[in-house]
Amino acid sequence: MSSKDGIGKVIGVALALCVVCSVVVSTAAVKLKPAQEVNKTRDLKRNILQAAGLYDASQSVESQFESISTRVVDLRTGRFTDDIDPASFDQRAASKDPAGSAELSDDQDVAKLSRREHYSLVYLVESDQGIDKIILPIRGYGLWSTLYGFVALESDANTIVGLGFYEHGETPGLGGEVDNPRWKAFWPGKQVYKNEEVAIALTKGAVDPASADAAWRVDGLSGATLTSRGVTNLVQFWLGQDGFQPFLTHLKAGEA
Ligand SMILES: Cc1cc2nc3c(=O)[nH]c(=O)nc-3n(C[C@H](O)[C@H](O)[C@H](O)COP(=O)(O)O)c2cc1C
Repeated sequence: MSSKDGIGKVIGVALALCVVCSVVVSTAAVKLKPAQEVNKTRDLKRNILQAAGLYDASQSVESQFESISTRVVDLRTGRFTDDIDPASFDQRAASKDPAGSAELSDDQDVAKLSRREHYSLVYLVESDQGIDKIILPIRGYGLWSTLYGFVALESDANTIVGLGFYEHGETPGLGGEVDNPRWKAFWPGKQVYKNEEVAIALTKGAVDPASADAAWRVDGLSGATLTSRGVTNLVQFWLGQDGFQPFLTHLKAGEA
């Protein structure tokens, strides 16, 4: 065998190996996609239940989520709409689509979103007495990344039930402490609005329980002032006039 044949064989084997590996990887990617989508949806539902303080790890997420109804709100009017099917609405895609969103001015864009979608999903826990809890999707820029999460409010549309993020790229141990249950436990019971204005904000360090504004303050993340500022900004944006405040006002008046 000449050295030329040898090189040909090596290249042939290498190419065949590449083809086999790429077929294996792409087949796995295609086959696993549906399972990944199911897990992603389940994770979202778990986060919605957790924000609302309803999650029970001993029961299936799907059965617990049956107590929650998903609706669509037109953020331009602050009212429910049936024009969009919540089951197929892709809010993240809409937020990037010029036809489904509007540009925010620098003054409006405190959460560094660039654009705000026209429609948003909202999640409601309802009882015979009416709406019990309102769970709203929130997002905004921290230090390194966009944080995606949910904030849940009591039926007064003012008292916080819980807050959590299901996706972010902040540093573990610093900004990543947004996932720490001890930090998330500071949120329940806090108030959003003072004289119709969003007043909730993170402080630097611990909240002084004796201070006059303690009900509107949450402990900042230590060593992560920039992520903390991002969380304040995104919560204030989504609960403010360019976010859900018009919808919450209508909801409280029974006019949503
Ligand atoms: C590698 C590295 C990762 C960091 N990650 C974060 C982060 O995720 N969030 C954050 O706010 N600050 C982060 N910081 C720190 C910021 O640069 C800044 O020092 C900090 O936000 C100031 O917060 P403090 O005033 O509470 O110390 C990081 C710093 C380094 C060196």
